[in-house]
Amino acid sequence: MIRDQRKRPLRDLRISVTDRCNFRCGYCMPSDRTYTFLPKNQLLSFEEITRIARAFAALGVTKLRLTGGEPLLRRDLPLLIAMLKEIDGIEDIALTTNGSRLGTFAADLVAAGLSRATVSLDSLRPEVFTRLADTKVPLESVLAQIDTALAAGLPLKTNTVVQKGVNQGECAEIVAYFRARGVTPRFIEFMDVGNLNAWQRDHVFDAAQIAAQIGTVFPHHPLPPRVPGETARRFGFDDGPGEFGIIASVTQPFCGACSRVRLSAQGRVYHCLFAAEGYDLKSLVRDGADQETLVAAIATAWRARTDRYSEERGAVAPAERTKVEMYHIGG
Ligand code: GTP
Ligand code: 5AD
Ligand code: SF4
Ligand code: SF4
Repeated sequence: MIRDQRKRPLRDLRISVTDRCNFRCGYCMPSDRTYTFLPKNQLLSFEEITRIARAFAALGVTKLRLTGGEPLLRRDLPLLIAMLKEIDGIEDIALTTNGSRLGTFAADLVAAGLSRATVSLDSLRPEVFTRLADTKVPLESVLAQIDTALAAGLPLKTNTVVQKGVNQGECAEIVAYFRARGVTPRFIEFMDVGNLNAWQRDHVFDAAQIAAQIGTVFPHHPLPPRVPGETARRFGFDDGPGEFGIIASVTQPFCGACSRVRLSAQGRVYHCLFAAEGYDLKSLVRDGADQETLVAAIATAWRARTDRYSEERGAVAPAERTKVEMYHIGG
């Protein structure tokens, strides 16, 4: 097992398969519709992704998560999942999606070996949803896709980014809606990811406020973490089954045990969600490097890793730092 400079192992590889999306969430994507996405030849092929994932698995990665942009815009995604499923050491393959096509593909995804999915959903109010996601896809269609995915047997969580004065009042309603469906809702403190979202500390509706609001309707208690370095703090309901989670990256950073690494759709590796720079693996693969060389390059880079941005937040003035964009690494 390899460890970085802060003694953190490498466990969790998040793979972005496309930078495209059919939504335009303001905190993630440029709103400019003329924005040009990556040309196809710049994207890693399924074979290249699988080779790189195999190299990471050789160094201790057991968990894969496919992200985007919107990963279900990439053609034949179930085929990639089936290829990744074959890798020795991979125990868990998850998907982060906006849900707009999830039901359509759910049965194929499950058959290919997808373990579970997380749907990003910021509001259950049609007008708020449409304003935030800036998409023609209606809320009711996303909710129908979620129900179809559940019927296909895919375990689901949701991710809601909570923004003060925007959707802060909906946390308890979202819990009620998804608890009834056996889905685990999770609430994320609004973070300063990327360079587009004009983040300010006072736009954050924080973990304590989220928990208190949910507690007025659903009394709850903390649950122990399932694995070290988990993003979400888990809470169980006092009156019966189900749980929800809060990802408190701003008020309670979890860099101490962060074992996550991110591969962009164009083949760059980022050691932190807030990294300024990644390193290029695509060139290495396309220049014909053998598997041993690939593994060695990844190991050398991980051993040098020191990232802990969320713990340092505020120490570096935002304007002095350019960060990778969210739609390149998928959160
Ligand atoms: P599980 O395995 O289901 O617990 O998933 P996960 O929490 O690893 O993945 P998910 O994509 O659902 O993460 C939820 C959100 O938490 C992401 O979309 C990000 O907004 C945030 N997040 C995930 N990983 C990190 C991280 O390493 N650092 C920070 N600051 N935020 C993260
Ligand atoms: N703060 C918190 N979460 C964010 N996400 C995207 N941008 C931010 C941000 N600034 C979330 C999305 C999605 C996941 C991929 O990351 O809503 O759930
Ligand atoms: Fe698309 Fe997700 Fe970014 Fe929204 S947050 S624009 S759904 S990739
Ligand atoms: Fe890991 Fe960076 Fe997130 Fe900290 S801020 S938990 S180092 S990805």
